Amino acid sequence: MSRIVAVSNRVGPLRGAARAGGLAVALIDVLRQSRGLWFGWSGRIGEAEGSTQTERYRGFEVATVDLTAAEHEDYYNGFANRCLWPLFHYRIDLTAYDRQYYDSYNRVNVRFARALHPLLKESDRIWVHDYHLIPFAQSLRDMGCVQSMGFFLHIPFPSREVLLTLPHHEQLIQSLFAYDLIGFQTERDCERFLDYAINELPGAEVRGNVLSAYGRSVRVAAFPIGIDARDYADFVYSEDGQRQYMRARNTLRGRTQIIGVDRMDYTKGLPERFAAYERLLTDYPDAHGRVEYLQIAPPTREGVQAYTDIKHHLEQMASQINGRFAEVDWTPLRYINRTLSRRALAGLYRASKIGLVTPLRDGMNLIAKEYVAAQDPEDPGVLVLSRFAGAARQMEAALIVNPYDTVGMAEAMQTARYMPLVQRRERHAELMRGLLKEDIVHWREHFVAELQSASLRRVPELVQQAQFEPAKVPAGQWPPTRRSAR
Ligand code: G6P
Repeated sequence: MSRIVAVSNRVGPLRGAARAGGLAVALIDVLRQSRGLWFGWSGRIGEAEGSTQTERYRGFEVATVDLTAAEHEDYYNGFANRCLWPLFHYRIDLTAYDRQYYDSYNRVNVRFARALHPLLKESDRIWVHDYHLIPFAQSLRDMGCVQSMGFFLHIPFPSREVLLTLPHHEQLIQSLFAYDLIGFQTERDCERFLDYAINELPGAEVRGNVLSAYGRSVRVAAFPIGIDARDYADFVYSEDGQRQYMRARNTLRGRTQIIGVDRMDYTKGLPERFAAYERLLTDYPDAHGRVEYLQIAPPTREGVQAYTDIKHHLEQMASQINGRFAEVDWTPLRYINRTLSRRALAGLYRASKIGLVTPLRDGMNLIAKEYVAAQDPEDPGVLVLSRFAGAARQMEAALIVNPYDTVGMAEAMQTARYMPLVQRRERHAELMRGLLKEDIVHWREHFVAELQSASLRRVPELVQQAQFEPAKVPAGQWPPTRRSAR
């Protein structure tokens, strides 16, 4: 097996399993198997650019670099999280189109590529993750790298009209042609990407799942990320899992717990979810004293104003709901702004008869999958899932809701409360079948295999074009012919 080099803005977490879900779990195994290398930001802010720090971790190498304060502000807070994140999640209203951010983003990508370059071997396969690093392969190609390179976007790819609002959208997307393989979470993301490419990129053509433009070809495919459902189910029986489960059971005293677990992000639809819960309590008085909603929402990206705003908004809504409905012996909504370990969460999921995963837009959402995996198959809870989460494509046996529809969401919670056992079991069994079939191992093996075959096809071309020079558009090729995306 060739060595896998994973590149992501955030490396890890390698130690402790504090964060819910995530990339770390998915990558560590493949890095161990291939004696690979994981490269990215150290998570620290240094005074100056500094050198690359390396360490060995469980049989693979880890190489990280610090960001300067200016880079952290303009590249990470700025272009990645004030521009690409909201834009790709359809929040044009929150998107900051700032040239300084974009310049810093490109410079950091070049600097990261320069730091990784001397650590690379010719036979490496490089797997780059997420929106922070779209131009990363182009920077490596400019340095003469001919290794096969794949990119996986963890977040949604937006529709063409939304992407067109980004100045320099073409330059950004053009840089993706330096990869051999581009992976998205769902077929819908692939379709939106191809729709953009065919209509906006000079001379773009699609044949099967190969997209050609600028004299280069790249394979495009969906790789829906999964979880290790069996391992996650075992977390329920871990010490942390059992402790949380027992605590929840003892405090609930027969009440139905509804649970939500999300980074405190405006894409997660938290105000809409709070409003729907308030609606449930307003429209269905039989829920009073019988349900409790536990929302766990660890703060995130606090250097970005939109995240501070949502925090205040939620605090206000939570205290308003409790002020309106609480009784001396009943708190309708408990709201925790801390990170819990994945094991502790498994116990809480098991103790919750309803799981609310209702983002306004989400690439996949692994919380939905973990909630299902943690259930008791004999007496499972019900997943209420937004149609706008990538996971909804694979999890049709959940109660699928529109997170903008307050009444519809309240109705779904009420349906979940009274869903007969036989129906809950059937839905859960179907969801589990899907989780076991398209699990995390399937995801990474599928991606690595595609990267291998995409690169085999392109080796001669890559050697010739080691220096990545985007081709000029030949006259008469504009506008490109519109073809069906799939
Ligand atoms: C999403 C992104 C990841 C990111 C994570 C946490 O899942 O797709 O790339 O690492 O959020 O966000 P943060 O800004 O803390 O890395």
